[in-house]
Amino acid sequence: MLELKSLAVDHGKLRALWDISLEVRQGEKVALLGANGAGKSTTIGAIAGIYPVAAGSVTYEGQSLTNASPAEVVRRGIAAVPEGRRLFTAMSVQENLTMGAYSRHLRGSVDEGLEKVFSLFPILRDKRRQNAGELSGGQQQQVAIARGLMASPRLLLLDEPFIGVAPKVIDEILDALRRIVAEGVTVLLVEQNIHRALNFANRAYVIENGRTVLEGNRESLLDNPAFADKFLGLE
Ligand SMILES: Nc1ncnc2c1ncn2[C@@H]1O[C@H](COP(=O)(O)OP(=O)(O)O)[C@@H](O)[C@H]1O
Ligand SMILES: [Mg+2]
Repeated sequence: MLELKSLAVDHGKLRALWDISLEVRQGEKVALLGANGAGKSTTIGAIAGIYPVAAGSVTYEGQSLTNASPAEVVRRGIAAVPEGRRLFTAMSVQENLTMGAYSRHLRGSVDEGLEKVFSLFPILRDKRRQNAGELSGGQQQQVAIARGLMASPRLLLLDEPFIGVAPKVIDEILDALRRIVAEGVTVLLVEQNIHRALNFANRAYVIENGRTVLEGNRESLLDNPAFADKFLGLE
């Protein structure tokens, strides 16, 4: 469904990604792991059309997505939920959600979208008239994910969605993500907590200094001494 081949991305004069190759197949839950500064968010941003691709390619559903604009990426069926949520905190929850639907005229009405995300995250229905900035961290994250879903994506990219979210709400969000996947959406999840990532995802890639260095399914990664050296015991 999504394939990155030897992707390179620069931030100004500094190269952030040197060689990122990964594949996400339709219906999968894939995790992207790596330390702070490894290049996870830059990878998501390059797919989402936010950072220009300096070398390599992004292919989506068999067609090039390399250096597509953010609007084009959304139109093609990909929604990215950015690190740190980036909500409009002085706007209501419902206004934030409606903004996620700007390309929705292609795929059903805004009201249908709202009904769908409210059934997934019922608390947001109760809070829909409140300013997003008044919500708890976990509720704001639910708004951010729901806003992404308003574009009716086939591929959902999530960048560290559980930072500042209470454990109980993390479980609620994970349940919602599993429901989304059961309905046919594919998920690429950036996560620093290895156990949580491998509990959710069926496969994962590890990024180090802008390069993909390890790939495998849950069992093979947990059995891999290189993976164990890097990660296990850190969390
Ligand atoms: N907007 C930016 N401008 C300049 N450098 C950046 C920017 N964003 C990230 N970087 C740098 O690029 C590298 C990768 O960062 P990032 O993709 O945010 O890593 P991660 O998400 O894995 O923590 C880091 O060295 C970081 O300092
Ligand atoms: Mg990041």
